[in-house]
Order: sequence, then C-alpha cells, then structure tokens
Amino acid sequence: MADFVSGFWNWYIIVLVVLSILFCWWLVITQSKKGQMSGEVKPTGHVWDENIQEMNNPLPRWWLMMFYITLAFGSIYLALYPGLGTFQGLLGWSETGQYDREMQKAEEAYGPIFNKFANQDLAAVAANPEAQKIGKRLFSTYCTQCHGSDARGARGYPNLTDNDWLYGGEPETIKTTIMEGRNGMMPAWGEIIGNEGVFNVAAYVQSLSGRDVDPVVAAKGKEIFATTCAACHGADAKGTQAMGAPNLTDKIWLHGGSDKRIKETITKGRQSHMPAHGEFLGEAKVHLLAAYVYSLSHQKKE
Ligand code: HEC
Ligand code: HEC
Repeated sequence: MADFVSGFWNWYIIVLVVLSILFCWWLVITQSKKGQMSGEVKPTGHVWDENIQEMNNPLPRWWLMMFYITLAFGSIYLALYPGLGTFQGLLGWSETGQYDREMQKAEEAYGPIFNKFANQDLAAVAANPEAQKIGKRLFSTYCTQCHGSDARGARGYPNLTDNDWLYGGEPETIKTTIMEGRNGMMPAWGEIIGNEGVFNVAAYVQSLSGRDVDPVVAAKGKEIFATTCAACHGADAKGTQAMGAPNLTDKIWLHGGSDKRIKETITKGRQSHMPAHGEFLGEAKVHLLAAYVYSLSHQKKE
C-alpha cells in the first residue's frame, strides 16, 4: 500500500501527527484550567495609548467545546481509519475494500437481471423491450465515448446503426467483436507502390463507388489493386469480414471518403482498435449489448 521506499517517512508522519495532536490537547487543557476560567479577569500588562489595557479573558465556553470536539474527532478518526502513515486503522477500512463491497452489492442486485437474458437467443433478446432498455443504458456507459451517443460513430469509429459491417452483422459476430475486441490493420503502401501508384489506385478505388475519374488512370490503378489490395479487400473490392477489410464499393467510409483522405489512408495505412470488453464487463452484459447493437440496424423489420 505504501509508496514510501524507506520506513522513515512513515514514522516521520506518525510522530509529527501524534505530537501535534498531543500538543493541541495540552494547549487547550492548560489554557482552560479552572483558575483561569472562573477567577477574576486580570490584565495581561499590555497597555496602549496610555490607558487601553489588554485583559486576559477566558475563551467562551462554546468555543472551548469546539476545540475539544475537534480534537476528539481527529483522535478517534485517526485510530479507526487510515491516516497515520501506513497504519490501516482499527476498522481495516479501505477505498478498494469499499469499492469491492459496493460492486458485489450491485452484482447481487443486478446480476439476476442480466443473467435472465444470458441464455436467451440474441435475436429474441434484441426484440425484448426490457432488455433493450438495459442494453441502451450499458451502451451509454461503455460505448458512446467512441461510437457516439446515437451509435452513428465518427471518423475512425464505425457507425453501428447502418447495415454495413467491417466484421459482420450476425448477432454472434457482433458479440464476438464486443467480447474479444478487434484490430483493423490497413498497411501503409506509400513506400511500396510510390506516389504514382497511390494516385492511380486511389482513382480506381473512387471509381468503384461510382465517382467520375480518369478511366486511363483508374485502369492502371486496377492492376495495382489486383496484385496488392485484392488479397484483403477481395477481387471485387467488396471487403473481407474475417479481416475487417472494408467494402470499398459503397459510399460508406470509415476514415473519410475525400480524395485526400483516401490517398492518405493508402499512403500511410490505418490502424483501428476496438477494445475487448468480455473480461471487463462479463458475458451477461456483453450479451445484452450485442443484442442492443444488433437491434440498431434491424429495428425497421417489425
Ligand atoms: C476506445 C474506443 C471504443 C470503445 C470504447 C468501443 N469501441 Fe467499438 N469499435 C471501435 C473501433 C475503432 C472499431 C473499428 C475497429 C476496426 O476498424 O477494426 C470498433 C468496432 C466495433 C464493432 C464492429 C463494427 C463492424 O462494422 O463490424 C462493434 C459491433 C462495436 N465496435 C461495438 C462496440 C460496443 C458495443 C462497445 C461498448 C461496449 C464498443 N464498441 C466500445 C472503438 C471503440
Ligand atoms: C493486409 C490486408 C490489407 C491490404 C493488403 C490492403 N488493405 Fe486496405 N484496409 C485493410 C483494413 C483491415 C482496413 C480497415 C482499417 C481499419 O479498420 O481502420 C483497410 C482500409 C482501407 C481503406 C479505408 C476504407 C474506409 O472506409 O475508410 C481504403 C481506402 C483501403 N483500405 C484501400 C486499400 C488499397 C488501395 C490497398 C492496396 C494498395 C489496400 N487497401 C490493401 C486491409 C488491407
């Protein structure tokens, strides 16, 4: 627990704190002795402007009580809770212990609700309004920072509400994506095919989604595509879900579809990381999330 390398600082803190508290006790007690409290008020001997005297008035009782209460509170607190160096306190309380207990309580309260759906078919869970509500809440907590609160994503973060999938939109595939995470790896081609190669193949890629490009340039790009890109994106450029290689013939772009962005993607490559959530959230929650994500692109069916 302690970050100290040597025990010295531990004792330094303990001794300093204990001595300060004892000193405060002593000070308050000696300054509030009966004699001083009840006796007649004596001058301190300090005089200003010839006749203004400083008197040694006792502290008001309520004020004194405040000192005692604060000191008692501090002493008891330090005995029960961590505060004196690395001393853990008599209660053995710790932040992590409290966190663990709260998590366990939450698990007991909500676990059965999550587990109720864990054995149901994903498509059935996706159609269940109660599961939808839970899934939506889980999504807001764990996924919106990347995929957006409406799940429509952003540049580099896929839209989950359309029916275009990098890795596949079957309920089980979505669940695998969330459980295990994904790493999309588009290699950098700039140095291999050169500027001209990038220029040509970028034109070809754009022709695939129906853009007007120079047909001669695109034809040259097509040759490069067949030898260099088809292995991952497929001969028809419709993508390979096993690798997360996107379909290049549609108008949906993960990394931006402008001429500049496409050339940049091809030259420098792209790497995307979807974190694994299985261990972090547990399968029951991922099950609900997968059903929720699935429902986002299948809502219109009913
Ligand atoms: C740190 C950012 C981040 C977080 C958090 C995150 N994702 Fe992702 N997610 C990504 C990225 C980036 C990709 C694209 C991966 C790739 O291109 O290989 C992705 C891909 C996906 C895919 C695959 C989409 C497809 O087209 O096949 C699904 C499904 C998904 N995420 C769901 C979720 C869910 C559900 C959560 C919340 C539990 C979540 N993500 C949290 C960044 C994130
Ligand atoms: C090793 C497999 C592989 C090869 C070879 C490959 N790509 Fe990719 N490419 C990918 C992957 C995977 C992605 C998605 C990256 C991500 O998830 O961020 C991608 C993304 C892209 C994108 C971005 C698509 C979008 O929606 O924004 C373009 C454009 C692209 N590749 C073009 C090419 C071209 C042109 C070539 C050949 C010069 C090529 N790729 C070769 C795997 C590959």
